[in-house]
Amino acid sequence: MNQPYVPHIQVPDYVRNRRAIEWVAEIAALTKPDAIHWCDGTPAEYDRLCEEMVRSGTLLRLNPELRPGSFLARSDPTDVARMEDRTFICSQQKDDAGPTNNWMAPAEMRATLAQLFDGCMRGRTLYVVPFSMGPLGSHIAQIGIELTDSPYVVVSMRVMTRMTARVWELLGAEGEFVPCVHSVGAPLAAGQKDVPWPCNREHKYIVHFPETREIWSFGSGYGGNALLGKKCFSLRIASVMGRDQGWLAEHMLILGLTAPNGEKTYVSAAFPSACGKTNFAMLVPPPAFPGWTVTTIGEDIAWIKPGKDGRLYAINPEAGLFGVAPGTSAKTNPNCLNAIRSNTIFTNVALTPEGDVWWEGLTDVPPPHLTDWQGQPWTPESGRKAAHPNSRFTVAATQLASLDPEWENPDGVPISAMIFGGRRSNTVPLVVEAPDWDAGVYLGATMGSETTAAATGKVGVVRRDPMAMIPFVGYNMADYFSHWLKVGRAAAHRPRVFLVNWFRTDAGGKFVWPGYGENMRVLKWVVERCRGRAHAAETAIGWIPGYDDLVWTGLERFSREQFASATSLRHDEWADELAQHDDLFARLGTRLPRELVQRREAIGRALR
Ligand code: OXD
Ligand code: MN
Repeated sequence: MNQPYVPHIQVPDYVRNRRAIEWVAEIAALTKPDAIHWCDGTPAEYDRLCEEMVRSGTLLRLNPELRPGSFLARSDPTDVARMEDRTFICSQQKDDAGPTNNWMAPAEMRATLAQLFDGCMRGRTLYVVPFSMGPLGSHIAQIGIELTDSPYVVVSMRVMTRMTARVWELLGAEGEFVPCVHSVGAPLAAGQKDVPWPCNREHKYIVHFPETREIWSFGSGYGGNALLGKKCFSLRIASVMGRDQGWLAEHMLILGLTAPNGEKTYVSAAFPSACGKTNFAMLVPPPAFPGWTVTTIGEDIAWIKPGKDGRLYAINPEAGLFGVAPGTSAKTNPNCLNAIRSNTIFTNVALTPEGDVWWEGLTDVPPPHLTDWQGQPWTPESGRKAAHPNSRFTVAATQLASLDPEWENPDGVPISAMIFGGRRSNTVPLVVEAPDWDAGVYLGATMGSETTAAATGKVGVVRRDPMAMIPFVGYNMADYFSHWLKVGRAAAHRPRVFLVNWFRTDAGGKFVWPGYGENMRVLKWVVERCRGRAHAAETAIGWIPGYDDLVWTGLERFSREQFASATSLRHDEWADELAQHDDLFARLGTRLPRELVQRREAIGRALR
């Protein structure tokens, strides 16, 4: 017979927030952990938890000479990525979640969660993780508390957020926070031995209650499903906060571009996964751009608020990078590769016999022998991936040499340009500038990206992914577009908006544009447009540079003809593209803002 569970809550004396104390007691009574640990976010706590996980087999310490302070985790093979089909927005009204989100009535979902969470932490420790998204005390930052039974989540949250006991000071007795409850959903019976990566293979739920701003996650220990400060809080819940309070929570990197004369311009950019977002955030300009530097404020998420001067200011709410390892190399992203040389938690990458890590794309020639992400011996002849395609590194932003000096500025940095981009083998030109804000919102709203084999098994299918936010808007997508229009209208100095496409292919299927560092040529044009210094030609969809409007030093082999094939607009392709925009708008229904329909009609007319 189950003993009645009496939670033994010893609250540290610096914790005075009444709602938090009651909530921890309530969740402990529901989940019935063996112990409660109030995390303080200190290095000693991080080291101790890592050490415990090395002993329990969750982490493997990498060779301290080759990868100092670094670890490898191997997840359960069924728990390797975000699960969009198990992600729910439980608003009171179904229409408020809209057609792009999974919805369940809050009462029904609460009943399901109550059952799943009942006793789910038996045999485990409940960790109380206080964290700030954004610099502590910034008027743009927000506070969350995550309750989790996963020490892997605790150490990852310490890297990805400002996790510190100082959060309790900021909260005081009455301060507001976003409550985040997470369990791997794998209670242990008395004496039962744990597995290295506990999770629940049967039930997974990633649930958001937008009206009460709560997050509940069950069954997965991986990434965005479990590190609740990231996609769940910083995008889904924060997008709702932004809607209500007049700001934007976006799936955007933020970079700073400094010209040789010291002039600095900040740019934010949204790309769906597999479009090189992390690489763009820490781009290294080619030698033809002496004195130009790119610095990084963030590589995944931006919170953007109107400032008193009428400009939009952005912070990166995160404190670390949770990046995809495969494809990261000295060629694609030397800055990132340097950052993860030490003090990094790797998940699901391959292990070398020397105790270092490897993934597809790291070197041209794979090592002859590896241990793959599932712990099995691997050779290049094995015919399978050594690292999981969604294998990751978790590393503090401060390890990044390209980190912008303003990255912790509590007021954020002023955004001059916003870039949207997807992976399109045709139709979308290398770069186009929207003629005004509303047209820019249209470019973002209708943006699409071709699926890659890693994600779906199907190549070349265009998935519409408005603002790269399709899995991340915590409310109705049509209302989200209206909100964008409104934020722009309220700002006296709106950023200019651009759409880019690095991925056009030629008749032989080869990429036309060299990409990576060469994207600097487009970025420079973008920044000069913001300063009114660069030329462009008007087209049906916006302003497009001519060959002579970009710098070609060092890339003279890229011909005028190639440039034309990277930037041309084909009317048959655009007729098809607009039909796809119509399908998206039809799916989004009657709440779609009129301005977008008008812009669609204007483009149609101009193309005719
Ligand atoms: C991410 C994602 O992990 O967008 O950043 O999936
Ligand atoms: Mn992302």
